[in-house]
Amino acid sequence: MSFYSKMSAAELERELLDLNQKYSKFKGMNLSLNMARGKPSPEQLELSADMLKNLEYSQLFRPESKINAGNYGELTGIFEAKKFFADILEVSPNLVIVGGNSSLNLMYNYVAMAMQFGILGNTPWNKLEKVKFLCPVPGYDRHFAICELFNIEMINIDMDESGPKMDRVKKIVESDPAVKGIWCVPKYSNPTGITYSDSVVRQFAALKPAAKDFRILWDNAYVVHHLSDKHDILLNIFDECKKNESEDMVIEFCSTSKITFAGGGISALAGSAANIDDITKIMSKQTIGYDKINQLRHCIFFPSVEKLRNHMSAHAKILKPKFDLVIENLEKQIKPLGIGDWTNPNGGYFISFNSLEGCGKRIYELCKGAGVVLTNIGATYPYGLDPKNKNIRIAPTFPSTDELKMAMDVFCLCVKIASVESLISKKKDTE
Ligand SMILES: Cc1ncc(COP(=O)(O)O)c(C=O)c1O
Repeated sequence: MSFYSKMSAAELERELLDLNQKYSKFKGMNLSLNMARGKPSPEQLELSADMLKNLEYSQLFRPESKINAGNYGELTGIFEAKKFFADILEVSPNLVIVGGNSSLNLMYNYVAMAMQFGILGNTPWNKLEKVKFLCPVPGYDRHFAICELFNIEMINIDMDESGPKMDRVKKIVESDPAVKGIWCVPKYSNPTGITYSDSVVRQFAALKPAAKDFRILWDNAYVVHHLSDKHDILLNIFDECKKNESEDMVIEFCSTSKITFAGGGISALAGSAANIDDITKIMSKQTIGYDKINQLRHCIFFPSVEKLRNHMSAHAKILKPKFDLVIENLEKQIKPLGIGDWTNPNGGYFISFNSLEGCGKRIYELCKGAGVVLTNIGATYPYGLDPKNKNIRIAPTFPSTDELKMAMDVFCLCVKIASVESLISKKKDTE
């Protein structure tokens, strides 16, 4: 095999014929495979099965705190649940609010609150002519969807292996008061899997925004989601903010969606005392409290950080072979041809693949035609627009290993076909 770009037009045409024959065989197999969404597999969900057995009625009353988890009260969560998240996020429990089963819901609520009521007494964003958010790309589609819904203008910020390009972030945030926020997935980022470097975290904490109510939405969704014993380390942004007296600038989010049950976990938000106060006031009008019985179930299931660590290792044992399988296929089938690059993360739920420029949508269509569903091309960019039409988010967690093996064979074949087609048409253009 040689680099496709070095082949002549005739060689490429012959290669395409051969690839298309292989594609027809896959088409005839009527496959139905999915590498689109980052969902835990059934095997992973089963790791938390005992959590559903561990709570007796008599345990709802907590003698230490004298609260009854079955009753009203404890708007911002039971202390044990705050402590659980505080340990994970390395913050003080009284700076944590525990939510329902979705951290995305907490993020949405925070933006909605800023829009309608304003942050810490500042003008509500919906009274302003324009509100802008910075969006490190490629990123998480549901963050972008929140902005789109509220008509918040999104500005792409390129990322490298250390995180967002901070020179650009600083320049925009410190000069434009309409820029009110930035979405960050700082650890095992969605979809690249990279973790922000110490320098990037420090530069975030040292920002001097033009807008007083600028917020870094620090979505630490994959905080304990390592794939092996090789862990990335993320600096604690609040510790860095303390040095700059900028704690009000950060709101951190996380959940147990990919620790226990994606459909029945618990979530949390952490922030400065002023922010927690601000959010609690609005929350008190929204709800009398989230599901404290589920909070308790989680706390009983995870009596110690040690138990959580072991539980995450059990997830890793299931996930690592799947990530390895994807990487091995890309190394074997794509690398020698020079038609793509990809990330090889130490944690999280995704691998980010970049095809040759302009090939993303064609790969998606070819995969779909052969029964393999990928995340929509463009989903990793604001407004669904990938400017280079090349980023594909691979989600290896849900399919079984056998399904994944087949899906990767189809995927690699489709990458080859789209690349050869593109190179042939480029050669024709230049002839
Ligand atoms: C970066 C990121 N944040 C948040 C979520 C959703 O979290 P939750 O289930 O807590 O709403 C996901 C899910 O894929 C994610 O990738």
